[in-house]
Amino acid sequence: MWRSHLARSLHKHRNQPEARFFQLATIGLDQRPHNRTVVFRGFIEDSDRFKDCLQIITDRRSQKFEQILDNPWAEVCWYFAKTRSQFRIMGKLCLIDAENPSLELQNLRQKSWQSLSDAARIQFAWAHPREKRISENLEIATPAPSLPLADFCLLLLEPIEVDHLELRGNPQNRFLYQRDDQGVWTEIEVNP
Ligand SMILES: Cc1cc2nc3c(=O)[nH]c(=O)nc-3n(C[C@H](O)[C@H](O)[C@H](O)COP(=O)(O)O)c2cc1C
Repeated sequence: MWRSHLARSLHKHRNQPEARFFQLATIGLDQRPHNRTVVFRGFIEDSDRFKDCLQIITDRRSQKFEQILDNPWAEVCWYFAKTRSQFRIMGKLCLIDAENPSLELQNLRQKSWQSLSDAARIQFAWAHPREKRISENLEIATPAPSLPLADFCLLLLEPIEVDHLELRGNPQNRFLYQRDDQGVWTEIEVNP
């Protein structure tokens, strides 16, 4: 399954924090693609419903927030240099902001906030992203680690299709994985 290949790549890069960065593409209100780098915050291990979901954190004030509200489809592109493996993970994003009514999801959001460093948490107290910079030095207090700030969002990418390309080998190897409505994955080996 794609999860075991991904786990192997993550393990091989366990001493390289930058291996946990991937590109997340969404669709804009203008119907154009928008892409940016984000940090992989792990899978949700203890939930059957969300077990294959990739966790990402973001700011409610970022452009992706409105884009995802309008159209939740997204694709992650992730390359691992040591295993020479690319994963393209497609699915829908679930936005968990401060207003989300689900207790289970709010617990996940809170857990995610609590696991962050102070340096990561303080970004959610900065002035509004992408607005004209007024002050060089943003004098703000470190947010409390217990409760998330209002603009802190957890994003869950629920994959339905994964395209795994391995450059190693001549010819290369490529596998397509698809998930059905029951959550069962099928794997097909395809030409690279
Ligand atoms: C290495 C790196 C890691 C980043 N991690 C995140 C992240 O985890 N979440 C996030 O929202 N933005 C992250 N960013 C910033 C985004 O790339 C982007 O600039 C920001 O989310 C605003 O994008 P948007 O307005 O399209 O939503 C990261 C940037 C870099 C370079």
